This record gives sequence, C-alpha cells and structure tokens, in this order.
Amino acid sequence: MAHTIVIFGASGDLTSRKLIPALYSLYKKKRLPQDFRVVGVSRKPFDHAGWRGSLLESTVKFTESGFDHAVWDEFSQRLFYVPGDIGKLQDFQVLSEFLATVEPESGADRVYYLSTMPQLYAEAIEKLGASGLANGGNGQRRVIIEKPFGTDLQTARKLNAQVHKVFSEEQVYRIDHYLGKETVQNLFAMRFGNSIFEPLWNRNYINHVQITVAEEVLIGSRADYYDKSGILRDMFQNHILQLLMLTAMEPPPRFDASMIRDEKVQVLHSVRPMSGGDFAAQTVRGRYQGYLKEPGVPPDSQTETFAILKLYVDNWRWKDVPFYLRSGKGMSCRSSQIVIQFKSPPHLLFGKKVRDFDANRLVIQIQPAEGIQLHIQSKVPDTEMKTRTSTLEFRFDGVDSGAMPDGYQRLLLDAINGDASLFARSDEVELSWGIIDPILGAWRSPAAPPLLDYEPGMWGPPEAVEWMREQHREWFDVCPVL
Ligand code: BG6
Repeated sequence: MAHTIVIFGASGDLTSRKLIPALYSLYKKKRLPQDFRVVGVSRKPFDHAGWRGSLLESTVKFTESGFDHAVWDEFSQRLFYVPGDIGKLQDFQVLSEFLATVEPESGADRVYYLSTMPQLYAEAIEKLGASGLANGGNGQRRVIIEKPFGTDLQTARKLNAQVHKVFSEEQVYRIDHYLGKETVQNLFAMRFGNSIFEPLWNRNYINHVQITVAEEVLIGSRADYYDKSGILRDMFQNHILQLLMLTAMEPPPRFDASMIRDEKVQVLHSVRPMSGGDFAAQTVRGRYQGYLKEPGVPPDSQTETFAILKLYVDNWRWKDVPFYLRSGKGMSCRSSQIVIQFKSPPHLLFGKKVRDFDANRLVIQIQPAEGIQLHIQSKVPDTEMKTRTSTLEFRFDGVDSGAMPDGYQRLLLDAINGDASLFARSDEVELSWGIIDPILGAWRSPAAPPLLDYEPGMWGPPEAVEWMREQHREWFDVCPVL
C-alpha cells in the first residue's frame, strides 16, 4: 500500500531535528514503503523546494550515521509542502486536494503527525474530522500526537474525548520517545526472553528499585514552557512512569499491542495512592541554584527542577518494595538508569555481613552508553575468603556496529505499520495523570515538602542523600556506569 505522512508543524524544531532525520535514515536503510511521501504543513510560506532546502542542514547535523548526498537527493524528492493554518478549515481542504494529486488513485495509508504547539492539538483533530481527512478515502488513517498529552487529568480527559469524536482509539498513537529507545525495548527482551531474571524479579529477592533520569542540562531558553510544567509534568507523568511500568509489569500472554498495554496499565492501577503525610514523607522537591535568574522565569516561581517520588506497587509481586523515581536538571551528568537492588544473602558464610548496598545489583543503563551491568560478590585473590564487588557487563555497542538509531525511527515505522505497542493508550495517559495530579496538588498546598536548593552539577539537594540513608539505603550515583 502507498503511504503518506502529513506533518503539522513542519517548520518547527521537532520536524527538523528528529522527524526528517529519522525518515531520511529509514529511507536510507530501505525500511520505508516503496510508494512513500511526506507532506509538511505549517504557516510559513515555503514551496516544495524551499522546505526541502531548509531541512538539508539539520538532517546532515542530526543524522547519526553517515550522511549521503545522493540518498538525500532521492529522498527529498518525496518531500512536499503545503502552507496552511490549523485555524482555517479551507486550508485543510486545500491539503486534501493536494494529497489527491500526489497519492495514487487507489489511495494511500496516511499518518497525520501533530508536531504543533499542544494548544492546537484539539483544533487540528477537529479540522481533520470536518474536512473528511480523518476517515475518508481508501487506506488507513492514523494520528500521532506528541507530548504533552494534557497538563493534568482533567485536560487529558478532555483531549481524549475530543480525539475520540474524530478518531477511534486504534487510530491514535500517543508518542513517548522513551519507548523508542533501544534499551527501553531491551527491558522486554531481558525480562521476558530469559529465564534467569524473572524468578528473582519480585519482593522475595528485591530490596528496592531506583529509576533515575538525570540530565546535566539546565532549562536554557525553555522557561516559557518549563516554568509552567516543572519536572513532574515534564519527565515523570510520561517517561519515568513508562520506565516504572516496563520494570514492574507482568509478562503479557503475547507480544501484542493491546496485551502489552493491558499489563502496563495494571501497574498504574496498582500504584498505592498517597494521602496525608505521605506527600511529605515520600516525595522530595528541589530546584537548582540560579533557576530564578534564567531568562523568562518569574521571580516568585515555585517550579521544581528536581524530584524524587517513592512509590509502592501494591500487588503480589511488589508489595512493600519501594520504587524510587528520581529526575533532575542540572545534575552531575546525563545518565538514565534502572537499578534493581537485590537483598543481601540470608545466611553469611564469610564473616562480615554483606552490606545491603553491596548485595547484587542489576544496573540497566538507558543512556548515554546503553547496556547492562550485574554486580556480584567475588573472592579477592590471594586472601583467605575476602569478597568484593565485581561486575559482569553487556554493552549494546559491543555487539552491534554503528550508532544506535534514534528512537523516532522505530516509533515512526511502527505507526506506519500500524503497531501501537510502543505508544500510550488513552487509559494509560489518564491513569498516569491520576498519579501525578495529587502530588502536584499537595506540592502547591501548605503541606508541601520544602523546595530544596542544589548546586548544578550535583546529584540534587544534599538532603536527598540523607533522606535515603534514613531508610537504610543509598543512591547508586555512578556516572555513567558503562
Ligand atoms: C523531553 C523533556 O520530553 O525529554 C525534556 O521535555 C528532556 O525536558 C527530554 O530534556 C529528555 O530526553 P532524552 O531523550 O534526552 O533523555
């Protein structure tokens, strides 16, 4: 079947940094359908050649493997541009007429990619419906919606309702680029493709789990967005809760979009709601020094740039195992990792107790380097029976040649092929907001824990280290482990 991707927001940053480089790379690898085209839509007055020209430099810059001019020349002939305003129905009609001129008469499957400002999602969808683009003609119609999907539970519900007036849930692909990362998908392979981890993957053997997404960068010029959003909306509601779901979910009966998402959603249903004193005891808020001086940040801002949530997943597998979720801007390094901290052995033969911190630990490093490290105790040679921590390691770049593909490649290809496994379902998004909303509410109330200061370049506020020690645990702050 022929295929068309229509990108709304075609002159934006995401299109030039991520979408076009990803489509170019897929084309180069011959992964795209033979009869394929991209149609860009935005208000800028480009023609086809002008839009193609505007994308060349960024594609060279943001393509991870070698750029090939001959391939670009071929690929760029498949890029078309239609100027249009999301507020104007007649522009959608012009788009519809244009699509008829470039698609075969037998029709084409289409993916509409909403890469616009989030405030325009609902209107774009309504106009796609009103102009007959959402469901008319031959071929499948799908829509990809970028993050953020709502700013709280109420707005997410409203947006879902608006989307469902035009598209059925099967047509909707809510993107979370973390699910496009190879190491995140490797969690499935590791957990459900091996028999040695799953028997230990529960409360009997695991002391706790740490999920950290640390970023070195500060907010830069994004104050306008970031100060209204803050770290919980920006990183936790989506990326970090996705990592929690994949770590804690039960094995699905089959590797199928609805079965995978059913199991992920069960995790969210099982997260123990916080109430009363939990918000102060189980959350930590921080802000890097200098945040208030960032251009565009209001002087009375209370926005967090660092947070820790201690969550419990109340089911048979995880009852009373804490999941520490942590993320911050201005941290010591860029490092995203999931640390499974096992319990120490029940009976010790070798003198001194193995500290819990030195017990077995599985570190799943998502970025910058991608791989897995298992920490084990082994004998120190030439001692009677002294033990120390040693590591077993697997690195993705050790076995595969070439750079790891950017997550957008996988996600775009899946949407083209109609596989929604790595996209968020409507109930998933609403349940995620249902976890985040009460915390945001408590943080804006007199019961909020203090907004702690930290120096950029550290692992967040020093109090967070003490907070963990009081629970007889330690952060695994190694930068980066691989
Ligand atoms: C985005 C957030 O969704 O993810 C950014 O809006 C954040 O604030 C980014 O920096 C992190 O993505 P990655 O892939 O660099 O870890």
